[in-house]
Amino acid sequence: MNIITVTDYQAMSDWACQHLIKRINELEQPVLGLATGSTPEGMYSSLINAYQNKQISFENVISFNLDEYVGLPSDDHNSYNYFMHDKLFNHIDIKGKNAHLPNGIASSPDQECQDYEKLITQTNGIDLQILGIGLNGHIGFNEPGTPFSSRTHVVELDDLTREANARFFASKDDVPTHAITMGIATIMESKEIILLISGENKAEALKQLIESDVTEDFPASILQKHPNLTIVADEAAAHSL
Ligand code: GLP
Repeated sequence: MNIITVTDYQAMSDWACQHLIKRINELEQPVLGLATGSTPEGMYSSLINAYQNKQISFENVISFNLDEYVGLPSDDHNSYNYFMHDKLFNHIDIKGKNAHLPNGIASSPDQECQDYEKLITQTNGIDLQILGIGLNGHIGFNEPGTPFSSRTHVVELDDLTREANARFFASKDDVPTHAITMGIATIMESKEIILLISGENKAEALKQLIESDVTEDFPASILQKHPNLTIVADEAAAHSL
């Protein structure tokens, strides 16, 4: 794995933005795996700026988001579908039909998982996956204990995760209990992974990701085995390495 330490959140976001631009320009039909959460927001702002300055077009880009809450319709402000439109898709020239997220209100969530997985495979897999990380080592919404062999599936969210994400909701009770997430095997099949990590509260997670044994108890530890992983950490997150 390649670890890049940069000064702060803005530098991390700019690095990721420049890297994405490079890859999008290199590939004929780039397939991106996208993430939500606070971590990639700065990268999305930088990408919008780059688009407005005509440095990049998303016309040929296909994207697949990692996850979505079960039960939230796309116009709910806390759905990841809403987040992605608000923070990125509404401001760039990606084609609506090419920007995919799991449907959180599908009548059969299990069928939705199978369909989503199939669509990723049919598109020939993900070229570049952007990842954040949860405090408990979750990637996407793959909580501790998720089998490394998992494909897109429905998960019950950890109490810690619901607490961490409660900041976006009126209260923790409003945070959905379940989500659809790409599985760990799905994520590991991406040709390249960029993991973004920022802030002192993530320092322990970064240390564990790099130094712990590869164990399902800490899902992100599997990334040690990915052949093309780059971790971009700011100094606060990297301070205990
Ligand atoms: C959420 C998302 C993850 C994200 C993580 C960290 O639960 N499902 O994809 O990486 O939590 O979020 P943040 O970047 O806000 O710390």
